[in-house]
Amino acid sequence: AAVAPAALAQSAYPTKSITMIVPFSAGGPTDTVARLIAQSMSADLKQQILVENVGGAGGTQGANRVAHADPDGYTVLLHHIGMSTAPALYRKLPFNAVEDFATIGLVNEVPMTIVARNDFPAKTLKELIDYVKKNQDKVSYANAGVGAASHLCGMLFMSAINTQLTTIPYKGTGPAMNDLLGGKVDFMCDQTTNTTSQIKGGKIKVYAVTTKKRVPSLADVPTAQEAGLPGFEVAVWHGIYAPKGTPKPVIDRLNKALKAALKDETVKLRFADLGTEPAADNLVTPEAHLAHLKAQIALWDPIIKKAGAFAD
Ligand code: MLT
Repeated sequence: AAVAPAALAQSAYPTKSITMIVPFSAGGPTDTVARLIAQSMSADLKQQILVENVGGAGGTQGANRVAHADPDGYTVLLHHIGMSTAPALYRKLPFNAVEDFATIGLVNEVPMTIVARNDFPAKTLKELIDYVKKNQDKVSYANAGVGAASHLCGMLFMSAINTQLTTIPYKGTGPAMNDLLGGKVDFMCDQTTNTTSQIKGGKIKVYAVTTKKRVPSLADVPTAQEAGLPGFEVAVWHGIYAPKGTPKPVIDRLNKALKAALKDETVKLRFADLGTEPAADNLVTPEAHLAHLKAQIALWDPIIKKAGAFAD
């Protein structure tokens, strides 16, 4: 019997280049992970994956673009923990974080670092906390908008020290880092994928990592717990999504390419330099990714509601 055209198209998928939406500016941590993964996935798919940066509203504008894209496998989203915090942070989201997407698999988890411009007066996290509390109307905190990982970490930090700060929103922490380097903003909490080279280059001050354990590529940086913020912990997980309704053979083919990318030595080495590593194999499945997304939405909802006063 003749094969139905749709089934034929799916079995030959991909027959043209694929767009990967990154919901933050180029040059930031999400973009860094996306371009590394896209390059390696392209090799497996034998089709270009073109990364397109769609910033705005803490990543929700880029996510919304994919939620409403054709479910044909030619538009995908690489997003992070913000997919699970947006439902609690935004009263009216233009999409449903679970219903409007098909999960493809988890990618990695990235530690965060509390960093400041080089001439910021505090030398330790304790001094930073004291200074910030005494000068709360003067100190500025950079983030990538409500829903960004830098926003979440900042909200948790302000809640932990019970101090509301002036926050400067950017379309990504790529541009935010430029202002930090230029001394135009005082401090921020950003992912090691974006801060490691600046820390090692002595261009910014680092006070702590936000993970339970120290980060091997930043071994002499204390954890927030060690440095004076007990129980302060946030790490940024990333996943890849397609629009709901994308055919299963297409999801499976994309998952296969993602699995190959996470086994690519170049990706693993670059990830290690940047403080991260590929997600465990059993998490790089649509089912495990969906379960994680749902669990994270449930986890962050009450935390955000409680710290909400600092969600600016
Ligand atoms: C974030 O804060 O969510 C990310 O660092 C934003 C980005 O990738 O630029």
